[in-house]
Amino acid sequence: MCDTCGCQGNVSTVSSESSASQTSPISSVAELASIRQPFAERFSDGLQHAIQVVIGSQRKPPRRIKSLLNGTVLGHPLHPAITDVPIGSWMLAAIFDIIWLISPLSYAWAARGALIAVAVGIVGALGAAVTGLTDWSDTYGSERSIGLNHAIFNVTALALYVISLVLRFITAAGDSVIAAIIGFVGLAAVLYAAYLGGEMVFTKGTSVNHTAWEAGSDDYQAVLPVEGIEENKLYRVTAAGVPVILLRQGLQFFAISATCSHAGGPLDEGTLQGDIVECPWHGSRFCMRDGRVLTGPATAKQPRYDVRVRNGHVEVKRIGEH
Ligand code: FES
Repeated sequence: MCDTCGCQGNVSTVSSESSASQTSPISSVAELASIRQPFAERFSDGLQHAIQVVIGSQRKPPRRIKSLLNGTVLGHPLHPAITDVPIGSWMLAAIFDIIWLISPLSYAWAARGALIAVAVGIVGALGAAVTGLTDWSDTYGSERSIGLNHAIFNVTALALYVISLVLRFITAAGDSVIAAIIGFVGLAAVLYAAYLGGEMVFTKGTSVNHTAWEAGSDDYQAVLPVEGIEENKLYRVTAAGVPVILLRQGLQFFAISATCSHAGGPLDEGTLQGDIVECPWHGSRFCMRDGRVLTGPATAKQPRYDVRVRNGHVEVKRIGEH
């Protein structure tokens, strides 16, 4: 236990026996075979690969379908905007169902309202599923695990609402109590899925602009001697504590944040084509001249820097507010 606060963190109490087993090499093929990924990991690998094939993640730019589904065209992730449709519609359906259950004969209109709301929610849920799976196909580790559970609960909710809708159609008017109850269970599933979606964004940072907290300096910052700077080569420099990539083409210099707005990938390790840089992690492409996103999954433009040369040094200053 930690002497300072009593917590269990960062305290090594490994016994000599376990220590020996940790350091011993894997000695046989049988041991290797026994180290298998959990089923969820293998399932996620396969599903991500299938999604990437369908939406064209591995194709050459501009990868318009993927960018469209990510929301790059909107300048905002598309998935969270669409999820409002099923959640709102199914919430409304639950309210209609409760009204109808209070007095089925007096409030027959509420049953019809619930049916329409359930149908609208199903259409919205299909859109949310397509855009959500697109975003999820670029995730790793714990955010991928949470995302898989998020998807499972959403698919469960969708299936329940499809059953509920069918029951509402085939049962006589005023006789769809079971359909309403199934709808309530579906609502619980989609609300738990929404909680997991919030966990991804607010705890894991999925789809959050990773340059949102980058501050600039009020004045120009010298970052590199101009002598020796090669053309068409990306240089990683630091301005006011923020990593920036610098590019020289002829007499012109361009600079944008080095941290990819999508998930924090290092743009200086990306590939350069003309004045376009492609992120090495998921292939977002940005214009070095103005930081615009040309290809998703990024949706937020890169912070841009003004560049000048003074006293033999390249100086940069962030343009615009953070
Ligand atoms: S980190 Fe995902 S595209 Fe750059």
